[in-house]
Amino acid sequence: MIAFRQATPDDIGPLADIWNSGWHEAHAAIVPDALTALRTVHSFRDRLRDDLDKCHVGMRDDEIAGFHISRGGEVYQFYVHPIGRGTGFAGAMLDHAERILAAQNCVTAWLACSVGNARASAFYTRTGWVNTGVQTVDLDTSSGPFPLDVWRFEKRL
Ligand SMILES: CC(C)(COP(=O)(O)OP(=O)(O)OC[C@H]1O[C@@H](n2cnc3c(N)ncnc32)[C@H](O)[C@@H]1OP(=O)(O)O)[C@@H](O)C(=O)NCCC(=O)NCCS
Repeated sequence: MIAFRQATPDDIGPLADIWNSGWHEAHAAIVPDALTALRTVHSFRDRLRDDLDKCHVGMRDDEIAGFHISRGGEVYQFYVHPIGRGTGFAGAMLDHAERILAAQNCVTAWLACSVGNARASAFYTRTGWVNTGVQTVDLDTSSGPFPLDVWRFEKRL
């Protein structure tokens, strides 16, 4: 059974671990080393703390299977634990993120996917998101904005 709930302070540790391992698995080979060096588990804990009120946790059979942070018209972070991958869980969680944004009167949602993140790109395309091209975004890091080329995906809600 799949269910979603608002994140709580007790979730910060487990979610930071999912974010940390998922980020390095998907990005270490495709982004500059300087960015990888900034993506420590401590940095993910800090960012979860900052955005906890916009973070939702996905549960699958009573286990945490992923989380998303959605705000300002953007699916800002989207991570699925290996136990949820390839199961349809990600699709259910993206539906949830879209519903959160639609309830905030967002008409066209967007998300950034690092150029070369082939699995995520295939997943977003299958779920009706459109790759509108490469855009340079300033990523949030503890050392200030870090410019990175990303694929900008959009979906009309
Ligand atoms: C991206 C993510 C949310 C997708 O969820 P998922 O459950 O793995 O997605 P699915 O298995 O349903 O679909 C993934 C697609 O990628 C394909 N795929 C699987 N492994 C792949 C790989 N190594 N390279 C390219 N494509 C791959 C699958 O066949 C599937 O394609 P299809 O729909 O055309 O059959 C999840 O893998 C994840 O959290 N990854 C790590 C973090 C991340 O990259 N987050 C997104 C940041 S923008």
